[in-house]
Amino acid sequence: MKLSEKPREKNIAPPLWLLAEVTYRCPLNCVFCYNPVDYAKQHNELTTAEWVKVLREGRKMGAAQLGLSGGEPLLRKDLEEIVEEARKLGYYVNLLTSGIGMTEERIKNLKIAGLDHIQLSFQDSTKEMNDFLSSTKTFDLKKKVAGLIKEYDYPMVLNCVLHRLNIDHIEQILNMAEAMGAEFVELANTQFYSWGMLNRDQLLPSEEQLKRAEKITHKFRDRLGNKMKLFFIMPDYYSTRPKKCMNGWGNVFITVQADGMVLPCHVASMLPDINFESVRNKSLDWIWYKSPGFNKFRGDDWMKEPCKSCPEKENDLGGCRCQAFMLTGDPNAADPVCDKSPHHSKISEAVIASQKPSNYERPIVFRTDNDSRKIMQKRDKGQLDITSSRLLERDSKPSKEKSRVGLV
Ligand code: FES
Repeated sequence: MKLSEKPREKNIAPPLWLLAEVTYRCPLNCVFCYNPVDYAKQHNELTTAEWVKVLREGRKMGAAQLGLSGGEPLLRKDLEEIVEEARKLGYYVNLLTSGIGMTEERIKNLKIAGLDHIQLSFQDSTKEMNDFLSSTKTFDLKKKVAGLIKEYDYPMVLNCVLHRLNIDHIEQILNMAEAMGAEFVELANTQFYSWGMLNRDQLLPSEEQLKRAEKITHKFRDRLGNKMKLFFIMPDYYSTRPKKCMNGWGNVFITVQADGMVLPCHVASMLPDINFESVRNKSLDWIWYKSPGFNKFRGDDWMKEPCKSCPEKENDLGGCRCQAFMLTGDPNAADPVCDKSPHHSKISEAVIASQKPSNYERPIVFRTDNDSRKIMQKRDKGQLDITSSRLLERDSKPSKEKSRVGLV
């Protein structure tokens, strides 16, 4: 069936992946974090019982993969309980972690609870850069956690987000991964959303840096083959066709935020004129199949030219709605990554701007609760530039709590 013939709210496949962002608390302050810039609006995480309800509803709908992420999911003391329930329900359970908070006792208990898979993130191959980028002293600890992952017989899956400041260390990063016995390594170039977008000028690599990194990755791939599988994810900014974001809006992934808001992607709460629902008020089933937010960009009725008549629209579905909004102010516009978009110059201009020392040498913004609050206050006072203000939900207000964000 062609997209245009697909009736709305009918023939919608169930979600396959449930992404549970169980907390926005995090000991790290990563400069490329994809959590919403205004995450400090949240102060009321779902309880264990509420997460269990979400898991049951998701499984009943057909979701088979569960991603537990955050923030740092290990900060939830009930993580083992959540994993145990998920495993009993039949999910394949993935933990996406920085490793902070992982002890031998916890990994043992998570194994007993039925955790299937751990993805450990690194910022760099050097202690200095790893600790600078996360604004913490965590490099040695991460190495210990990598050892525990091996010892408890999990596949070693490493993730390193690449950008201007670490991409030239790719050879060392891959050597480190090999020495750790990694079986899968994801080298994901920063995608410019949320905190990454605030730091775009400082983080966007040059084309030469990217080409060199790709070449080195190929060299490792040729030598190691299946022994260490490498995934190199390019930044959109050097493409001329947009990605099929999230494999389609409301198509495969359903994301539940720490406070229960349900989204088709991590950052959709910034899109204007959509009221996303919470699992505290509605069932997951209703939200997926019936809610206006999840139906907003299904099919192609929403498309404008040049997407509407584009022969490639079924491949990329017009690209990313959040990127279209961030860069053009119109969530229905073609993703400006596409060179058929009338706004494609926004991408080429951003690449040029990011290569100027006066831009990339500007201070970097770290993801902290305080900065999240300050950014909301600046927006309210009209002190935020237009693109940055688009990263926030329109009426988000800082949580009143002085303590860490999100405590249950
Ligand atoms: Fe929201 Fe692409 S990140 S649709």
